Parts: sequence; C-alpha cells; structure tokens
Amino acid sequence: MSTKSKTRKTTSSGSESKLQTFSASTQNLLMNVTFLNKQGRVTVECREGETLLQAGLRQGVPLPYACGAGVCSTCVARAKPGTVNNNWLQAPGAQNLNTVKGECLLCQCVPVADCEILVPGKAALTGDSGESPQHQSGQLGNLVEVAPGVATFELELDQPISFLAGQYLLLRLPAMEGYRPYSMTSFSIHSQKPTFVIKCVPVGSFSEVLFNGSFKTVRVDVFGPMGKAIFDPTEGRDLACMVGGSGIAGIMSVLRQARDIGYFSDHNVTMVFGVRNPEDFFFLNELKEIQESAPANIDIHLAVSELSDSNKMPVALGGLPVWSGFVHEVAERVMGQDLLGRLGFLGGPPAMLTGALRLLLGAGVPVDDIRYDKFG
Ligand SMILES: Cc1cc2nc3c(=O)[nH]c(=O)nc-3n(C[C@H](O)[C@H](O)[C@H](O)COP(=O)(O)OP(=O)(O)OC[C@H]3O[C@@H](n4cnc5c(N)ncnc54)[C@H](O)[C@@H]3O)c2cc1C
Ligand code: FES
Repeated sequence: MSTKSKTRKTTSSGSESKLQTFSASTQNLLMNVTFLNKQGRVTVECREGETLLQAGLRQGVPLPYACGAGVCSTCVARAKPGTVNNNWLQAPGAQNLNTVKGECLLCQCVPVADCEILVPGKAALTGDSGESPQHQSGQLGNLVEVAPGVATFELELDQPISFLAGQYLLLRLPAMEGYRPYSMTSFSIHSQKPTFVIKCVPVGSFSEVLFNGSFKTVRVDVFGPMGKAIFDPTEGRDLACMVGGSGIAGIMSVLRQARDIGYFSDHNVTMVFGVRNPEDFFFLNELKEIQESAPANIDIHLAVSELSDSNKMPVALGGLPVWSGFVHEVAERVMGQDLLGRLGFLGGPPAMLTGALRLLLGAGVPVDDIRYDKFG
C-alpha cells in the first residue's frame, strides 16, 4: 500500500459489462485504485478481476464492509462512469444504488482502468485496518450431513491462516460467479483446516454442488479471513448468544475459544439456539460438552419454533432444556432481566436477527455491544 500513485502496469478493457473474476493461480495485470474521502487518499494495486474491496482490504485499507458478498449495502462508494465493472447488477445490496451518481458496491465491482473511488464516512483511509485478508485456494471436503439440509465440512487450505473467533471466509467454486461467505465453527490461532457448517439454500449455486448426493471434494478459491463480529477475550464480559440454524457457526468458534482459554471460570454465557423442528438440531453433543466444562457459568437453551403434528415437544434434547418459541422469545424468558451489561452475539436469518436486536436494544444494551453478521 502506498499513499502515492505507483507505476502503472495496467490494462483498459473498456466499460462494457463483462464479468471479470480473479484467480489466485494466474499472473494478473495490475491497476491503481485510489480510495479517497475527506480524511485523505491512498492508492493500492488491484489485480485483474479482483474486487475493489478485496484489493483494499488485502493491503490494509480500512474500507467499510459487512458481508463481502453483495448482501448488506455497507460498502456503497462512488466511481467515475466507465471506470469500474459491476459483476453482479442484481445483488440485493445494490438495489437502491444511485447509479447516476456513480454509486457502486466495493465488493461487487472490479476496475477496468486506474480509478479513483470516493468512500463515504470518516474512516482515515491511510490508517491500518489491522486486517489482512488474502487470496488463496483450498480443498473443500469431508462433508457430513448433520441435520436435514445442514452439513459440516472441512477446508484444507494451501496456506495456514490466523483468524479471530467469529470471522468468516469468502469461498468460490472456480466456475462460479461471486464468493459466498461461511463462518468458521472451529477455533485455533493458526489453522490450515478450519471447519464450517452450511445450510442448503434451494437452487443455490454453491449449495447445489455440495448437496447433490455424490459430492466428495472440490477446489475452491478463498479470500479472508474477514468479519468484525469477533470475540475479544480481553474485553472480559458476560455473553448473551442468540442463534438460529446455521447462524450458530461463528458462535461455535467463540464458545470453543472461550472454553479452551478458561474464559468461563470468570465470566458467564447464556445462549439460546433455535431451529424449526426438534429433528433440525445439530451440534448438541458439542454444546453439551462445552456446557459441562463450566456448568455453573454456561447456560444453554434450545428453542423450537414449529412442531409437526406427529411430534411432541421434548423437555430436553442432548441434556439441554427445550422451549417452544422463536429464539428471541425464549431468550426473553430465560434472560430477559439479565441482559444489560452483556455482550450480545447473534447469528441467523434476518427475521431472527430483527427479533434478537429488538430484545437487546429494548433492554438497553448499547448497539456497540451487539455483534452479528447479516446472513442474507
Ligand atoms: C458474513 C456471513 C457469514 C455467513 N456464514 C454462513 C455459515 O456459516 N453457514 C451458512 O450456511 N451460511 C452462511 N451465510 C449465508 C451464506 O453465505 C449464503 O446462504 C450462501 O451465500 C448461499 O450460497 P448459494 O450459492 O448456495 O446460494 P445462491 O442463492 O446461489 O446465492 C446466495 C448468495 O450468493 C451471492 N451471489 C449469488 N449470485 C451471485 C453473483 N452472480 N455474483 C456474486 N454473488 C452472487 C449472494 O451473496 C447471494 O445472496 C453467511 C452469510 C454471511 C453474510
Ligand atoms: S460488503 Fe458489499 S454488500 Fe455487503
């Protein structure tokens, strides 16, 4: 990264809307991208096909983002007409862009020439983000279906990574357009084989390959680690976790790190994990083991929001108490009076997040004390 423009080795392929994707394994042409706002400007090299967001983050520029996948709109910026290509015009996060003013998503646009990008906000772009996600590749395999439409998998990376509990990687099958974010469920300071849990999205491009019945293993492009919904043990706070379905992923990593460093000898966690039907639960053995590591300080509850006629609501599953209701409803019952002062960790579909956020904010928990990723 530099604060001056670098020698130009670049290409200009015009402004037609042609999909460009980055490959870590090929020699890439370079373009200079200058990010600027009222606080200053910084120029970085962007490899051919690499998104503006990836180029900036890779070189430590503190750009705004939350999903890296076109979902959240956090990365809206402005480019001069014709200087960037938008890889995914239909991105949910791009629906309210003012394209006349050059608004674009940093995570979905690639430069077609050296360019200047106006980044809103007060972040000092010349400062260091403290993050350094990188491109690499890995072998995705060991897929195990753990509940209907939910599977765990391992990613054997070509190079080890260091990540924080709660972070995610962007993954892409070589022939696929755009990356998909998946949160690590494992935790270790240096990891070459992180694990994940994936929910099958009907007709989802990534999901379809993994859930087609004959899947064994596949090479994937990887970018990361990313994400700011992280656990920092030095904060020394009690935790309130509310998760639904595969939204438990990043919080498993948080719980595993906290258990491994003895965090729960001094701090407590109350957690509600919800699914629709009792047969949809997974990770129950792992949760029970974590709970037994510090039973006085770890309180885990299960929530079931629907019950088919043939099913009876169990009192407990895997030794953990089961309640009827949505995650936020059960959370209100089990910790409604005890939320203030806790750090909130949330994960799950949008409706679950909305309910959980309302509960925490209503209880007076400051917004800065609530960590979550928007899954969709
Ligand atoms: C921070 C974060 C962490 C997540 N962690 C997990 C997790 O641990 N486990 C889990 O099951 N789910 C997780 N999700 C949700 C998961 O990423 C989506 O369910 C996944 O993208 C579905 O991919 P798909 O290809 O199967 O479905 P699709 O319906 O094909 O794609 C869904 C998403 O892919 C992207 N996309 C689609 N088409 C394009 C395109 N042409 N160009 C670029 N992008 C495109 C978009 O982000 C879209 O919303 C997470 C989401 C976020 C934001
Ligand atoms: S980071 Fe670009 S839309 Fe979420």
